[in-house]
Amino acid sequence: MAKLPWHINGPLHVSGRSRFIGDEAPLSGMLYAKFFFSPVAHARIIKLDLSAAKAFPGVHAVYSAQDIPGENMIGHVYKDEPLFPEDIIMFYHQPLAMVLSEDESIAEAAAGLIILEAEELPAVFSIEEADRLKQWYIPERKIERGDVADALNRSRYSIHGQSYTGGQEHFYMESQRTRAIPTDHDLIHLLCATQSTTEVQEIAAVVLGIPAHRIAVEVPRLGGAFGGKERSATIWAVMAALGAFLSARPVQVVLTRDEDMRTTGKRHPFLSKWKIGFDEDGKILAWDIELMCNGGAYADLSIAILERAMFHAENCYHIPAVRIKGRACRTNLPPNTAFRGFGGPQGMFTIESALGQIAKKLHKDPLQIRKLNCYQNGDITPYGQQIKESSALDMLNQVAQAADYQQLSKDIQDFNSSHEHLKQGLGIMPVKFGISFTTSFMNQGSALIWVYLDGSLSVSTGGVEMGQELNSKVALIVQRVLGLSFEKIRVESSHTQRTGNASPTAASTGSDINGNAARIAAEKIRKNLTELARVMLQERYEIESEELVFAEDKVFAQAEPEQSIAFPELIKRAHQTRIPLGAYGYYATPDLYFDRDLGQGHPFHYFVYGAAMARVQLNLLSGEHEITSVNIVHENGQSLHPDIDMGQVVGAFIQGMGWCTMEELVIDAKGRYLSANPSTYKIPGVRDLPRDLQVKMLNSKSAEASVFGSKAVGEPPFMYGLAVFFALQNAIQSVKPEAELSFPATPEAIVRALN
Ligand code: MTE
Ligand code: HPA
Ligand code: MOS
Repeated sequence: MAKLPWHINGPLHVSGRSRFIGDEAPLSGMLYAKFFFSPVAHARIIKLDLSAAKAFPGVHAVYSAQDIPGENMIGHVYKDEPLFPEDIIMFYHQPLAMVLSEDESIAEAAAGLIILEAEELPAVFSIEEADRLKQWYIPERKIERGDVADALNRSRYSIHGQSYTGGQEHFYMESQRTRAIPTDHDLIHLLCATQSTTEVQEIAAVVLGIPAHRIAVEVPRLGGAFGGKERSATIWAVMAALGAFLSARPVQVVLTRDEDMRTTGKRHPFLSKWKIGFDEDGKILAWDIELMCNGGAYADLSIAILERAMFHAENCYHIPAVRIKGRACRTNLPPNTAFRGFGGPQGMFTIESALGQIAKKLHKDPLQIRKLNCYQNGDITPYGQQIKESSALDMLNQVAQAADYQQLSKDIQDFNSSHEHLKQGLGIMPVKFGISFTTSFMNQGSALIWVYLDGSLSVSTGGVEMGQELNSKVALIVQRVLGLSFEKIRVESSHTQRTGNASPTAASTGSDINGNAARIAAEKIRKNLTELARVMLQERYEIESEELVFAEDKVFAQAEPEQSIAFPELIKRAHQTRIPLGAYGYYATPDLYFDRDLGQGHPFHYFVYGAAMARVQLNLLSGEHEITSVNIVHENGQSLHPDIDMGQVVGAFIQGMGWCTMEELVIDAKGRYLSANPSTYKIPGVRDLPRDLQVKMLNSKSAEASVFGSKAVGEPPFMYGLAVFFALQNAIQSVKPEAELSFPATPEAIVRALN
């Protein structure tokens, strides 16, 4: 195999040569879009007066709901979201009108002249209130096994509880943006920062009232997304498309950081109410949980996110009787959306909180209790999927060994008994994360390969590069099949004209789906070339052909590596003999189905397992903490690129740690995000990293894994961050056993818990 240290975008990023949408020179005649955003969270529109903005010198046009040529609808799975509201404003900072000008500051000034006359309506911001009012997008969902009420009654012990996890701002570096370019033959080309080219194409076509083939969506790369551009990008893309369609000029939409943070949805806050029944050893017998999420003003992906939370509500544990109910609640906040983990972290947090309480109640070792309940092969999940390759127990054993658990626990006890104002704590977070879109049909993808006449190759997939280095993985896969050196392989932008009908790059499936599609396309090319290569080897060396090898830009018989045909030579001849040098690859993940009414099926292709253990040191006076050490063990299959995967594990852990310890979204009584810029919203910085972070990647062999034995890595490690929250909880409980830490564990929350 060729040398591995290869990363397509890294050298471009560090040398400042990577370009993002909006970096290109302005096009001649290009208009900049600025918006008039709602100053109220919930209201009936009486009048939207655009006249002063329209009359402002330098303004090209002002558009609002009545200018939409097609349907005023950008909802996707659940169609409840208008591009511009016509009647009811649903959240603060909802865009109501768009101003176009060749001068961005003129557009902005003119947007400020728009006058809204509206009748304010009562607004709902909290889950509790929305749930009380039954403001759900769809009726309650349920996954159930056994008789949970009976099992709770029969359990020796039971605990009732309530858990809450907060929202999270995506904080991608590149804000939402699209450049729309009308070209000839009635096509609109969208250079768009989206994870979902297809959704943007579909919805832009509906809003403009034209066929989808007149919209081309292209994503060169994203400056980060984290789920925040799976659906939230669509509205801005469609705004740009609408502007370009109506004005017949290029239009650019780029949100500022503040606009982006005020107007886009975030991770769903979840509230859950639960009862857990268990015996004297800590074996769980019954788990009854109601999950409620704050979905914001429109359904967006809330139903799918709730579903994934429900699928992860038992985490790594086999529980005989289970009832999981879920309700997605509509509130007057920006529509909350996909965020790394997609409900998984919220579901898992609850059971891990409950397990912590079991350990406390029984005065037992929290690691032991977790080990006792781990899934074994053959166990069935509450939603009916059989567990075939559980490494949950193994992960816990390995992380305990890596962290030297016995010694660590003892050191912490010793430290705590000899310190008054400093206390240490230990947190454990096992992870089992299901891989596949839970909407089964979405698990499909395509790739297109062209080999050019000089032997260089171009590969397109529907996958979007957002920093996870999907492009490097796709190139590595093609490299493995065709034996080309990396310089010969070019991974193209994601473009609907090359790979149509792509699923979003999400659910951690990017490399499984697009990588497999690229593998299949490359295998077709290899198959097309094999007979010819045999003939050429025969002509030149009189080699009786057996197994041919494609490697090092050559083709040769396995036994005679010295006698080879150079790849470019093979390609030239292939073209002359009229052998196709292009191939389309299509992949659909096998064996997936889920019946939503029954709450039963096989929604995941496989699971990714791992575990984290964190040690923290807390200052009881200030509430500040330091993460002294973190150990992570991550089961990663046959990695396509261990360094990239390590980046994903470490990055996701830090993002998860930030979510549960410092990132706090604050709204005022009017539903306005006050934490709408980096000065009021704190994400982890270098000084917040653990003093000692050890990650052990396990090169596991798995029959269920995906392309070349690899496993998805994008989201599962996010949940390791929760180990830090539980470590802080543990430190607090060492001085005040009954204290419950609220989420996120900011210094204020810690001081509150202690007092
Ligand atoms: N890594 C970087 N650098 N930037 C991102 O935006 N998104 C995450 C994860 N890792 C993200 C990332 C999310 S939410 C997902 S679903 C996966 O990457 C998507 O890419 P993949 O499926 O190719 O792993
Ligand atoms: N994960 C991420 N995005 C999705 C999913 C999912 O399971 N389902 C639909 N969109
Ligand atoms: Mo990731 S939240 O599935 O984009």
